[in-house]
Amino acid sequence: MNKKKLHIKTYGCQMNVYDSGKMSDVLADQGFENSDQMEESDLIILNTCHIREKAAEKMYSDLGRIKKIKDKRTKNDKDTIIAVAGCVAQAEGQEIIKRAPIVDIVVGPQTYHRLPQMVTNAQKAHSKYGLELDFAAEEKFDSFPQIKSVEGSKTTQSSAFVSIQEGCDKFCTYCVVPYTRGAEFSRSVKDVENEIKKLLDQGIKEIYLLGQNVNAYHGRGFELDKWSLGRLIEHIAKMDEVKRIRYVTSHPRDVDDELIAAHRDIDKLMPFLHLPLQAGSDRILKEMNRQHTVEHYMKIIDKFRDARPDMAFSSDFIVGFPGETEEEFLGTMRAVEQVRYASTYSFIYSPRPGTPAATYEDTVSLEEKKDRLQRLQALINECGKEFNQNSVGKIMPIMFDRQSKKDGQIAGSSPYLQPVHIDTNEPEKYMNKIINVRIDKAFPNSLHGIVVE
Ligand code: SAH
Ligand code: SF4
Ligand code: F3S
Repeated sequence: MNKKKLHIKTYGCQMNVYDSGKMSDVLADQGFENSDQMEESDLIILNTCHIREKAAEKMYSDLGRIKKIKDKRTKNDKDTIIAVAGCVAQAEGQEIIKRAPIVDIVVGPQTYHRLPQMVTNAQKAHSKYGLELDFAAEEKFDSFPQIKSVEGSKTTQSSAFVSIQEGCDKFCTYCVVPYTRGAEFSRSVKDVENEIKKLLDQGIKEIYLLGQNVNAYHGRGFELDKWSLGRLIEHIAKMDEVKRIRYVTSHPRDVDDELIAAHRDIDKLMPFLHLPLQAGSDRILKEMNRQHTVEHYMKIIDKFRDARPDMAFSSDFIVGFPGETEEEFLGTMRAVEQVRYASTYSFIYSPRPGTPAATYEDTVSLEEKKDRLQRLQALINECGKEFNQNSVGKIMPIMFDRQSKKDGQIAGSSPYLQPVHIDTNEPEKYMNKIINVRIDKAFPNSLHGIVVE
């Protein structure tokens, strides 16, 4: 039987990457195989992101392109089914079909397990569309163990995502996530452990734990107790085949002593933490409802550094939040100077429909926002370069898991997620292994090294 072709385009965060993997796993059981050719596919899924206006608009321009592909097809050609999944689907629901009638299925992030049925229905009665927007996180995760393959969670041959927590109860005033992903939900330890075991059987070495607020994890343990993220990491680290553990994204309010102790005691836990600060002014943090001060954040950074001196950090920042003054923006610059982040993401504030901040008066001109972003990014790049430069001369364990673009080179990741390249004509000797490498050259976004035998 000819397999049907599935093309998934993923926008947004790692959680969406993970979800796309799960959708492709769930549909593989139904005879679909992945294709990177949108044009030739029987089912196209756009797994969308609603975090900023631009992200949502991208989906509509892609739908326009897909319509052209569909229009070109002959009548006897079987129709392509178009599904919109993810956070735009959750936020806009039926509106999407009104704006883009070529869409057959709209499916929110908590209902992917119902996708096979929706696809079957759409195939049967092509004109009727399907809509699934429940918040059914428990049901979603309960259905995962039935999936035969866990191919979709892999990001390389050595590393894989495992979602342990979904949703957010923080309600930062600028953010859509609590509305698109629903309330915080944690998977049980047993469930997480089973998924990791499947991945280890396939040679995975690095487990990347995911959650919208991953350190708010409070999953059920083996008794009827609740486990923190620190405790879960300690448990995962006991599995021999797990060589590296990472987690993302954390909230400063949910950092606890168990997590800091895990960084002190567990070598498999990488000394790297993505801890978004968002802004370097207490007034703006308050307006954002972040529920902590800059000082509190800096204290957390110090605690991690005390526990693990080689710990490095990354962050997210928003510039041009309504009412942000030049002086408040300079607070953000000072915070970056103080922490000297290894890497950082920065965004111009984008008002999102339905969030409290969207009703605040936008006092910062677009010109000013762009200027602030530019100044911030210049500083961030300087810190990133400095961090890479400081790696030169060090010996670091590198997990090799991919070919470099350059012939005769392979690439891997340092504990700090820096891409590291080595020259070799025996790639199989190092692939899917963690090898000590002496770093001899630094570039703005990568490193080069020589294997230490
Ligand atoms: N749960 C994570 C963030 C998820 S969204 C956390 O709390 O840190 C990823 C990043 O997008 C955020 O950290 C924030 O910096 C940015 N972001 C979210 N909403 C935004 C908006 N309305 N405009 C601009 N940036 C936004
Ligand atoms: Fe959004 Fe704030 Fe929740 Fe992060 S913590 S997902 S920024 S509401
Ligand atoms: Fe975007 Fe949804 Fe992730 S809005 S950032 S895809 S949680």
